[in-house]
Amino acid sequence: MTKVIVKNAPDLTSEELAVINAWRKKEFNSDTILGGPQNKPFYDSVFFLNKEGEKIVAFGRLRPLEVYIGEKKYEIWGIAMIAAVEKFKGYGKQLMFSIKDYVKKYPRTMIGFCGKSVSEFYLKCGYSILYDAQKYFVHIDEQGKKHYEDEDVLYLEGPDDLIKQLSSSNPPMITHYVPHW
Ligand SMILES: CC(C)(COP(=O)(O)OP(=O)(O)OC[C@H]1O[C@@H](n2cnc3c(N)ncnc32)[C@H](O)[C@@H]1OP(=O)(O)O)[C@@H](O)C(=O)NCCC(=O)NCCS
Repeated sequence: MTKVIVKNAPDLTSEELAVINAWRKKEFNSDTILGGPQNKPFYDSVFFLNKEGEKIVAFGRLRPLEVYIGEKKYEIWGIAMIAAVEKFKGYGKQLMFSIKDYVKKYPRTMIGFCGKSVSEFYLKCGYSILYDAQKYFVHIDEQGKKHYEDEDVLYLEGPDDLIKQLSSSNPPMITHYVPHW
C-alpha cells in the first residue's frame, strides 16, 4: 500500500534527500545536489513523495515560478523531477494524481517540459500536452544569453490566460530566468 506525502523542501529528511539526489543523477544525469549550500532556490519547492512504508517509490516537485509575456508577469507552478523508482507499477500515476489535487487546492497554471517518450504517460494521468511547445519558452541566463529547447509542454490550465495564449495559432514567446526548473 503506497501513500503520497506532501512536504515543503526544508522539511525533507537527509535520507529522503539522499534517495532523491541519487535518482536525479540516475534518471536526469543531474549533478546539482538538492539541499546543498549552492542550491538555495530549491527551498521554495513542494515535494511529493510516494512511499511504501519508509521507501520512496516515486517522487516529483512543484516550484512557484514567474514567467513573462512581454512585461506581463504570470505566477505559475513549474513541475519537474517526476520519477518512479520502480516503473510500470502505477506509482507514477498515483503521484501525478496527488500533484493534480494539490494544484486544484492552490490554483495556478502548471507547466513542465517532457520528451516525446513520456507525453503519453502524462496524458494517461489526466494532464494536457502541447506538442513541441517548449520552443516558445526562452530561458534568459545571468549574462542575458537566451536559451531555447524543444520538448513537449505538459500543463494544467489555471485561472490566468497563459495556456490560452500558448495554444493559440500564433503563440507569444514566454521568458523566464530559471534554468531547467
Ligand atoms: C515516466 C515515469 C515517471 C512513469 O512512472 P511509472 O510509475 O512507471 O508509470 P505508471 O506505472 O504509473 O503508469 C501509468 C500509465 O502510464 C503508462 N506509461 C508509463 N510510462 C509510460 C511511457 N514512458 N510512455 C507511455 N506510457 C507510459 C503506463 O502503461 C500506465 O498506463 P495505464 O494507466 O493505461 O495502465 C517513469 O517511467 C520514470 O521515472 N521515467 C524516468 C524519468 C522520467 O523520464 N521522468 C519524466 C521526466 S519529464
